[in-house]
Amino acid sequence: MINPPYHAAESRYSDMKFARCGKSGLLLPKISLGLWHNFGDVDTLSNSRDILHYAFDHGITCFDLANNYGPSYGSAEETFGAIMKKSFMPYRDEMVITTKAGYDMWPGPYGNWGSRKYLFASINQSLRRMNLDYVDIFYSHRYDPETPVEETLQALVDIVRNGKALYIGISRWPFKQSEYAYAYLKQRDVPCLIYQGRYNMIDRGVETSGILDQAYENGVGFTAFSPLEQGILTDRYLNGIPEGSRASKGNFLKAENITPELVARLNSLNAIALERGQTLAGMSLSWLLKDNKVTSVIVGSSSVRQLSQSLRSLEKPDFTEDELDAIDRILLI
Ligand SMILES: NC(=O)c1ccc[n+]([C@@H]2O[C@H](COP(=O)([O-])OP(=O)(O)OC[C@H]3O[C@@H](n4cnc5c(N)ncnc54)[C@H](OP(=O)(O)O)[C@@H]3O)[C@@H](O)[C@H]2O)c1
Repeated sequence: MINPPYHAAESRYSDMKFARCGKSGLLLPKISLGLWHNFGDVDTLSNSRDILHYAFDHGITCFDLANNYGPSYGSAEETFGAIMKKSFMPYRDEMVITTKAGYDMWPGPYGNWGSRKYLFASINQSLRRMNLDYVDIFYSHRYDPETPVEETLQALVDIVRNGKALYIGISRWPFKQSEYAYAYLKQRDVPCLIYQGRYNMIDRGVETSGILDQAYENGVGFTAFSPLEQGILTDRYLNGIPEGSRASKGNFLKAENITPELVARLNSLNAIALERGQTLAGMSLSWLLKDNKVTSVIVGSSSVRQLSQSLRSLEKPDFTEDELDAIDRILLI
């Protein structure tokens, strides 16, 4: 059977909330979709397509990619490019599409880290794979201590000036280098739009390092990646490690990390979520979204069902002090 042509749902903006990204003019959906897992050439194209359609039909306008998402490297961008061509092209101006470079992508000295050579080659490749003329946000995926920081930052400025990206972001940069980047980019009239960092109920590193406050004080948006701690902060592991889950595959999330002690804590968190009338996934995202310093959370999903649960987090933004204290006690924070 031939797939019918895609028409985006008329109701797509009825439930999504949008927030201004730092001091910029750009509004981002509170929930973005990340394509790190589940969109590679090892995955089922029809499932990837269904998730993308569902996302856009429910107001997720921001799609987060990187050059090496897959596996294989580049294939998540190819999948997105195929859907772009077939379904999303009429809606391009309703979308914020992001990509990144900074980790290993191709062999040799020019396929990794932060040189001008790598960043320019990578953005050109990403645009080809995604069937795009430009991306909305181009990120430096990590700080490169071996390349002069000015070379990396000037390449980002020039990528914008060349029309290959509208805005610049940095991801996983340390505090000190982020401060330098914010000042450098501002002086060149290409202010940093957004910082992308790991943040969830379990991993609060961006609070303790000051990264979250720093972005806010610099008028830079903040987007949280792995907001569900790769699925740990959901009902996925409440009763063991299911077949097909990320921990069962063992690449980025290891089965040995799902300890009995962790599972006990997750069950206690789940009890709070149920009392709030939420799934654990929903509560974990609501917990992030309660903070107005968090512009958007980038969720991963291996099914439409999971994404629909994540979207329901928008319904319960408020926590009582007792709930917040109980969560911290369970997580020993
Ligand atoms: N800048 C960076 O360096 C960086 C690093 C990592 C990620 N990111 C970005 O952040 C995005 C999200 O990262 P992530 O995939 O680690 O995010 P996540 O939202 O913490 O985890 C997503 C995984 O959790 C499980 N899940 C999601 N919703 C669920 C639900 N309702 N019930 C049960 N399980 C659920 C699924 O795992 P199963 O596969 O087990 O079903 C899903 O693949 C990435 O796609 C990428 O765009 C950026």
